[in-house]
Amino acid sequence: MQADLVIRNVVLNGEPGDLIVQQGRIEEFVPGGTESVQGKEEFDGQGFFLWPSLIDVHVHLREPGFEYKEDINSGLKAAIAGGFGQVMAMANTNPVNDSASVTEFMLEQARKFHPHGPFLHPIGALTRGLAGKELSPMAELARAGCRAFSNDGLPVENNELFRRAVEYSSDLGLKVIDHCEDVSLSEGGLMNEGEISSYLGLKGIPVVAESLQVARDILMAAYLDTPIHLAHISCRQSVELIAWAKQKSIPITAETCPHYLVWDESRVQGYNTLAKVNPPLRTRDDVLALQQAVREKVIDVLATDHAPHAEFEKDVPFGEAPNGISGLDTALSLCFGLVLDGVFDNDDLIRLFVNAPSEIFDLEANTFQKGDVADFFLFAPEAEWEVRPEAMFSRGKNTPALGQKLRGRVMAHFLRGRLVFERAI
Ligand code: DOR
Ligand code: ZN
Repeated sequence: MQADLVIRNVVLNGEPGDLIVQQGRIEEFVPGGTESVQGKEEFDGQGFFLWPSLIDVHVHLREPGFEYKEDINSGLKAAIAGGFGQVMAMANTNPVNDSASVTEFMLEQARKFHPHGPFLHPIGALTRGLAGKELSPMAELARAGCRAFSNDGLPVENNELFRRAVEYSSDLGLKVIDHCEDVSLSEGGLMNEGEISSYLGLKGIPVVAESLQVARDILMAAYLDTPIHLAHISCRQSVELIAWAKQKSIPITAETCPHYLVWDESRVQGYNTLAKVNPPLRTRDDVLALQQAVREKVIDVLATDHAPHAEFEKDVPFGEAPNGISGLDTALSLCFGLVLDGVFDNDDLIRLFVNAPSEIFDLEANTFQKGDVADFFLFAPEAEWEVRPEAMFSRGKNTPALGQKLRGRVMAHFLRGRLVFERAI
């Protein structure tokens, strides 16, 4: 028998074998390998894990308007090299993605530079201009290709407006992703409020600025019996509220980011602007609570909140630097580090980065069953690499991981059975 593509001697779920792909779809994984199938194309997967392409439901690709930080082309390059086959891009561009023309432009840029993927799913602004005053033209945005709605970066304070956004979004079959932050509590804050912020003399952002809005969203989701997805959860108190909501079967889903699982607020010491992010890195206790929450499925999804900024923007006094960590290049290796440390296992990683995002946002994912899209990558678990600016595909080099040695790398990435990325060694 002849197949379009065969990946030989690769390890899927701990078992070595050959993967057979036909017409961009999974045909079969044959444990132990097969000699009766020949591929028009063949790859040697010896020493590599076979993993489904990851889905990142929260990235900032900065185009249109802030191409000096990142553009759709460079952002998607970082995505594919980091293991992501699909990304959902936030609306805080300039102009804001609150009209069909911006959504269509983003999709065109993605198709132009990456016709075979990775695939971009724009997220529409919840309110016009993200100003929190009136709803955006949500039906128009949905028709143009937006896959969710969010106010990310600028919280919606008006509860009535938020309620209507959740209702309209649900009528359109899409979810609201809420950036939970009470601005009256966080205003002027630069890092987590606590001992370290007092010591450094920096105004703090208390956890209650997040958890108060988490509570609002839970109560709203319960009252409307309509799902709401919570972006970048950073603290124990929010986790405890989400656990309560799930116990009550309230339709809430939540994400956290690799940076909240690996680093705490002490990273800010020395006024390190690379560790400045919103919500801020919290205490060790919060990190441990989040690690437990991802293991126990209280937190459903891992997302990078990839927020690239230019070097000159971060190279300023702490108070003036923008918030954000560039995440696409390092997310998988940072999380694989947590696997090696025994925080969670490879199955958890796939659930958090593939299965849950695909279910929540209705995106196609590969589970290596016959007929699934052949979106996968070869992962070298032994490969060690140092995070240096030249090693990153994103234009944004702003990560506290700079200089750190990480384990595990994407060596080759296939989408719809086609090789779209191969790492030069
Ligand atoms: O750290 C952040 N950066 N948090 C946000 O909510 C927005 C983001 C950005 O766009 O840079
Ligand atoms: Zn964000």
